[in-house]
This record gives sequence, C-alpha cells and structure tokens, in this order.
Amino acid sequence: MAKTKKSMNEVYELALQAAPSGIIVVDEAGEIRYTNQTLADMFGYRVEELVDEPVEILIPDQFAAAHRRHMENYARAPRSRDMGTGRDLEGITRDGNRIPLEIGLRPTQTPSGPVVVATVVDITVRKAIEDRLHRHEQELEQLVAERTRELEDAQREKERMLEQLIQAEKMTTVGTLVSGIGHEINNPLYALHAAAEALADETDIECCRAYGSEILKQATRIAETVKNLSRYAQPGTRHDLQAVDLSEVVEEAVRLAHQSLNDEQIEFEVSDGRVAEISARFEEIMQVVFNLLRNAIQAMPGEGRIQIVTQQHGDFVSLRIQDNGSGIPREHLKRVFDPFFTTKGPDKGEGLGLYIVRQIIIRYGGEIEVDNVDGGGARFEIRFPVANRVDKPEE
Ligand SMILES: Nc1ncnc2c1ncn2[C@@H]1O[C@H](COP(=O)(O)OP(=O)(O)OP(=O)(O)O)[C@@H](O)[C@H]1O
Ligand SMILES: [Mg+2]
Repeated sequence: MAKTKKSMNEVYELALQAAPSGIIVVDEAGEIRYTNQTLADMFGYRVEELVDEPVEILIPDQFAAAHRRHMENYARAPRSRDMGTGRDLEGITRDGNRIPLEIGLRPTQTPSGPVVVATVVDITVRKAIEDRLHRHEQELEQLVAERTRELEDAQREKERMLEQLIQAEKMTTVGTLVSGIGHEINNPLYALHAAAEALADETDIECCRAYGSEILKQATRIAETVKNLSRYAQPGTRHDLQAVDLSEVVEEAVRLAHQSLNDEQIEFEVSDGRVAEISARFEEIMQVVFNLLRNAIQAMPGEGRIQIVTQQHGDFVSLRIQDNGSGIPREHLKRVFDPFFTTKGPDKGEGLGLYIVRQIIIRYGGEIEVDNVDGGGARFEIRFPVANRVDKPEE
C-alpha cells in the first residue's frame, strides 16, 4: 500500500527525533529553527524551550562572542565542515554543566532563507576515555624514563665495580710479582754494586770505561723491570684508550711471566706475525695475556711448553696461547670463565683470573674461546677488532 505524503512526513519527523546524534537547524540570524529530541535531552531542555531562542543559549558565555563572529564568517562562505576536530568545543546545559561536543555543519537553502543544519554529538565519555588514555600514556612514559635511568645507573655501577675488581686483581698479581721479581732486581743490583766498587779502585781508563758500561747495562735492566711492573700496575680510566700492539704486549707479558713465575723448566715459543694495533688500555691487555700465561704455567708443574701465536685475519687480530699441560676436563670447559670457578684450592686461586680476562675482552669488542688440544693441554684463542673498527664506548 502506497504511503501518503503526510504519513511519510511523520516517519521523517520520528526518524529525526530518534536520531542518535543531536540535530539542530539555525537560521541566518543565529536563531534556533529546529532541534530534535536527542539534542534537547543532551542540553536538559524541552524541544519547544529551544525553538526561536538564539543558539548562544547552548554556548558557554566565554565562547559566545567568538561563536557569533564565526557564524558571520561562515554565512559569508558557507561550506560543509566538521567543528571540534583538533580543538575542544563545549556546550552548556540548562544546569550550567559544560559538555564536550563534536559538531558537523552543513549550510542549506529553505523557502524561508538559508539555514545551517548541525549534528551534535556529546563526547563526554569518549573524552574521559581519551583523557584517561593520555594520562596512562604519560604515566607509562614516566615509568619508562625512570626505569631507563635506573638501568643506566645500574650499568654505570656495574662498570665501576668491574673497574675496581680488575684493578684489585691486578694489584694482587703485582704483589706476587714483586716477590717473584726480587731476583730480577737483586741480581743486576749486585753486579752493579760490584762494578761500582771496582770502578772506585780502578786507574786504567779502558777498565773504567768497561765498568761504566757494565753499570749502565745493569741499571737499564733494573729500570726495564721496574718499568714493566709499574706499567702493568698503573690504574687507568676507561676513556684513555691507546693504540696497542698485541705483539708488544705479548713480549712484555712473557718477560714478566718468565721473570716472576717460571721455574726455568718452561719453554716459551712466541711466533708473532705483524698485526694491526687494537684500541684498548695497554695494562688491561697485559693483564689478559699475563693471566692466561700464569694459568698455563700453573697447569704444567715441572716442565712444559707454551706456544703463543699472534695473527691478523682481516679486521681482527688473534692471539692463541696453547700449553701442553693437564688440559681442562670437558665438563669444566663451559665454567672456566665463571667468577670464582677454580680447581686450585682456596690458597692457590680465587677463580677470578679468567672471569676478568673475559670481561676485559668483551669491553674491547673481542671474544675468547677455549678448547683442549689433542694430545693434552689447553688452548685459549682471543680475537680483537683492529683499532679503527672499535665502536666508540658508550657514554
Ligand atoms: N691453561 C689451563 N690448563 C688447565 N686448566 C686451566 C687452564 N686455565 C684455566 N684452567 C682452569 O680454569 C679454572 C679457572 O681459571 P681462573 O684463571 O679463572 O682461576 P684460577 O686460576 O683458579 O684462580 P686465579 O686466576 O683467580 O688465581 C682454573 O682453576 C683451572 O681449573
Ligand atoms: Mg688463573
């Protein structure tokens, strides 16, 4: 059955009244021509209380004047648009409560003149959710910033403690070295003393020259030993990196180990290919090599042979230290770098040597591997990136 025009109008009116958004029609003079029930409910009025009223009845005082100006501008160049996106629009209810709104505008012509049709949505709930989300986001950001700060502090503290540990381990070694190295100073000192005494009684100029050069030789030997020791003992800071020649470190570490730890039964076999320099602290690399040599010597009571090979492989330099001692039981291989892992008993080892070795190597972007040698003995292999490849340490 065809619907009459009248019944269709009723349907339109009902649809408008029941629309989920508020609908309002405002004429050129800024007066409300029509509102639906939803809009009236939103603002706490009855529909008939709003019709013929100026639209400012729905706008908080502080925005009313600006709204007038906007309306006049809009009347000059009317076009469909959304209001309230990107800025906060507010309406005011009969009770004086403010409500956040989202408004869409569309100009249209009617037989009685131009009007603007507006859809109005109350976004109180959405805004509350948005505000809550925003607050959560801020809280989260703050939490992340705090956590990051804590982690950075912890990292700095860890670095500081490692620095202290490295230095303390070095000083313990220096203590042993000093006693072991006594004869390295005493022997040349006796020779020097004897040459000086002889020199005092000597009248022949040639003999005097010979004693003089002997004194010089022995004094140089003492100076060299002291220099090695103090170069090893000196504390440094993380930031004074130098270009370090691995072969030079090996040479000094072998000399130090030979002088202080060797019971003369151990043979050192050094074969160093020319290698590029690495960026590190000399005394720390020395600590690495010296600790490995000391372990090797301790693993070969009586006699043995230590082979030391330095090589360059592209952007890396490597150092291999291999002994023919006891080797490391398979089940210990994974644990030797753990702090306090030792098989030497409380008075002989603390189990810190290899832990520190590995920390120093990691610090300079390198790596270390250990394995047993066929036929007995252990082999440690270290790799460092060459100097210009090291990433700058993070501040
Ligand atoms: N060259 C090696 N041959 C055999 N075993 C080794 C060798 N190097 C290390 N180890 C084993 O690894 C363990 C850990 O070595 P690490 O240097 O960390 O500690 P340590 O030598 O026992 O004590 P510290 O170095 O603190 O005086 C040693 O106790 C030993 O069992
Ligand atoms: Mg050790």
